[in-house]
Amino acid sequence: MRITVKQQVLLAPATILVLLILLLAFMQYTYWDLSAKRQEAKAIGTTFVALAEADMAARRLHLLLRSMQHTGMASPEEMALVSDLYERLFDAIGRLKPFGPLKESGQISRVLTLAEELNPADSPRLEKTAESFARFRTELSAISNITQFHRNRLRLAHEQDIHQLVERTALVSMSVLILAIVLGLLIAGYFSRRILNRIQSLSRNAVRIADGKLELPPAPDHIRDELDTLAVSINRMTKRLIQVVGTEKLLEGAEEERRRIAMDLHDQSLSDLSTILRGLQSLSAETVDKTVLAKTEKLEEELERAIANLRDIMNNLHPQTLDILGLGAAIEAHLEQYFYADNLPEYHLYIDPQVGHLNLDRVKQLALYRIAIEAIQNVIKHATASRYEVNLELREEVLILSVEDNGKGISDLDNRDSGRGLNNIRERAKAITAKVSWKPSRFSTGTRFELTLHI
Ligand SMILES: Nc1ncnc2c1ncn2[C@@H]1O[C@H](COP(=O)(O)OP(=O)(O)OP(=O)(O)O)[C@@H](O)[C@H]1O
Ligand SMILES: [Mg+2]
Repeated sequence: MRITVKQQVLLAPATILVLLILLLAFMQYTYWDLSAKRQEAKAIGTTFVALAEADMAARRLHLLLRSMQHTGMASPEEMALVSDLYERLFDAIGRLKPFGPLKESGQISRVLTLAEELNPADSPRLEKTAESFARFRTELSAISNITQFHRNRLRLAHEQDIHQLVERTALVSMSVLILAIVLGLLIAGYFSRRILNRIQSLSRNAVRIADGKLELPPAPDHIRDELDTLAVSINRMTKRLIQVVGTEKLLEGAEEERRRIAMDLHDQSLSDLSTILRGLQSLSAETVDKTVLAKTEKLEEELERAIANLRDIMNNLHPQTLDILGLGAAIEAHLEQYFYADNLPEYHLYIDPQVGHLNLDRVKQLALYRIAIEAIQNVIKHATASRYEVNLELREEVLILSVEDNGKGISDLDNRDSGRGLNNIRERAKAITAKVSWKPSRFSTGTRFELTLHI
């Protein structure tokens, strides 16, 4: 199982957090333990005080009742004191808290029953009263002994507990903190090294590609985290780059070949034809025979036409105007030379002056020139338009070439069994990373072809 980058980053802090929560739980448990013992100590203290109060009240009550029975008479003050003392005694017994061994023994309930028997209103005989007081005080003293014993034991244990608690808490806290730090560092170190290794490998691949070494970097089969996504993206980017560079090289090679053929035609065929033309011209100048003269002049005309055709072919193969005048002027020259005629649709050309200042490389200029010519030729061939506009302009950082006609329009472009023209346009645009589109034109009918290129 592979852990995602997010999980790897969160693992170390999560481990530290879990350990700290465990430490907190331990401290909470220790506190509960201590507070339970404190509650017991409090109950013992309360019982101890209540026992003393009850014993004192019982003793005084006993003495008072005895003296009253001796004299055989009781003043109202003495009667009020008797009931007050009994109330105090009863109240003190009510405050006895059961703890430890007293909880189960039933001694407290026994004392309560005995206290009820001591009620002065219910015990008319002196011997019976004396006996009840004796039993009551014996029971009290038994509880008192147990309480005393527990009080002492608890006091000792409490001091020991506090010492142990402080020691244990300090030891556990230190151990957990050290464990948390060591574990956190180990986990963070291990996973950050793994992440770093993967990032370094990706960055090495990216640098290699940027340096022009177009080798396809490895890509994972399944995407599990963000770095896998990055690796797959770099892989796809490289594939596309290899394609684009391949197409660009192919086009460059083809252009170079066309230039070479144009030069060969110029230097060889054109110069041969010119030599023949000059020979014919001198023959015409020398001849006096009218029929021969007519024939040589006709041949001269045909040869001049053939030379003009050859120049057209050469220009088509390699437009020299592009090298000499630049892109805008080359398009303009081509339009004037081939598409300015009465039987052809009227055109309007706008070349943004800023385009002339752009330092477009030869490959881009040639691609743009050939794309423009093909789009114009398509208007002439297919659109049956009466008018079209050719614009080459720069908007912010984007060069826009558009050819827009008012013809019949172009429909279902994707399914159209198109000729080579549209495919060539797409290929050339791809090679220079330009985008092309065909949309309805701003005229009431027709097509707008648009190319955009980020400079
Ligand atoms: N401006 C346009 N108006 C109307 N239809 C167009 C326009 N441009 C292209 N088309 C249509 O798209 C089709 C494909 O054009 P494409 O340039 O690929 O081939 P083609 O011009 O017929 O042949 P090729 O360019 O190879 O000489 C054309 O046949 C035409 O029907
Ligand atoms: Mg075409």
